[in-house]
Amino acid sequence: MRILVTGGAGYIGSHTCVELLGAGYRVVVVDNLANSNEESLRRVQEITGKGLTFVKADLLDRAALDALFYEHPIDAVIHFAGLKAVGESVYKPLEYYHNNITGTLALCDVMRSHGVKSIVFSSSATVYGDPAQIPITEGCPKGEIMSPYGRTKGMLEQILTDLHTADPGWQVMLLRYFNPIGAHISGRIGEDPKGIPNNLVPYVSQVAVGKLEKLGIFGHDYPTPDGTCIRDYIHVVDLAVGHVKALGKMMGAVPKAGAVADSIKGGIGTSDRDAVGGVWVYNLGTGVGYSVLDVIHAYETANNIKIPYEFKPRRAGDVPVCYSDATKARDELGWVATHTLEDMCRDSYRWQSANPRGYEG
Ligand code: NAD
Ligand code: WQD
Repeated sequence: MRILVTGGAGYIGSHTCVELLGAGYRVVVVDNLANSNEESLRRVQEITGKGLTFVKADLLDRAALDALFYEHPIDAVIHFAGLKAVGESVYKPLEYYHNNITGTLALCDVMRSHGVKSIVFSSSATVYGDPAQIPITEGCPKGEIMSPYGRTKGMLEQILTDLHTADPGWQVMLLRYFNPIGAHISGRIGEDPKGIPNNLVPYVSQVAVGKLEKLGIFGHDYPTPDGTCIRDYIHVVDLAVGHVKALGKMMGAVPKAGAVADSIKGGIGTSDRDAVGGVWVYNLGTGVGYSVLDVIHAYETANNIKIPYEFKPRRAGDVPVCYSDATKARDELGWVATHTLEDMCRDSYRWQSANPRGYEG
């Protein structure tokens, strides 16, 4: 099977390419390199000893996408490509809505015209807003989403669901990630943020290697045991494996030849839906919450270093506690996260210390 990975040169995409190649899939990556470096894909091939095809293109460039689908017969798409900086999205809403939403609309339109109707989509725990329940199950109502970035995820979940409603031949896998951190155990690929990192562990890693002086902890007066926010940190390799499992489930639900055509002719009942296509939603998290101070202590223990920090005021938009109930993915995908928080911290540091300037050298 040949899988198109949009945004495959990025952080989660590159780790997923490693797992896809390892599982025997052929991989075509499309990426405009807006937030990544082609070097990541060279290293994916080095790690796996397998080749992949890279097409440098923007999802907004329909002609380029169309040519890609003509040239490479694609069975399914894993769609990572998007802009993801929460804070930036607040002052660049047009850019975020255009890139993330128009880009996805163009992708789906081109997919449809080539008869490709299976898509795995990178959603986010951000769609739960300030969650109505902890731990968060997939049935938890979507909350008030805090940023334009997050709203693109909520809107795209709806758009992809509507696509399936209009044409039940579509298979839509919505994966809601919690907080991916860590890096491949080889230390060859990892997260390479441009400029000063916005996220906790990339910031801690840059403090660890002396690029930044000290971490600021945003708030220590939250209603949590140590006063700092709690999140569900998940190793990026576990997340990548989750994509392979989810893809397998989705493609396993592909109907027998002719079933889609029959369903279109005859209409389908709800009970038939999964046999034809479907919309699936899974949380990809560990089910365990750790505080900011827990992360710092784990990082220090795993790597035998000190992380200087100071407390700062709360950051706008942060919810106090967010962690998943991961049982649905375990029961239905046969997937569980296996890496500990210390594994995540050790692998982040290995990547950062071997590549202090990321893929730049
Ligand atoms: P990333 O920025 O490392 O990867 C995204 C990739 O998409 C980049 O390589 C970028 O160059 C590419 N891209 C962006 N717009 C494009 C366009 N119009 N055409 C072609 N390529 C384009 O981000 P990531 O952390 O790997 O995240 C992957 C996906 O997962 C994103 O959709 C993100 O919103 C989502 N997500 C990430 C997290 C997280 O914490 N990292 C959490 C939840 C969801
Ligand atoms: C974690 C905790 C901060 C930096 C974000 C997105 C979310 C999803 C995952 C894409 C919080 C604290 C952070 C720092 C700190 N991405 N912190 N000092 O905000 O949970 O989730 O990434 O979909 O949508 O919002 O992750 O790593 O930014 O923060 O104290 O310098 O660390 O306040 O409590 P977050 P994060």
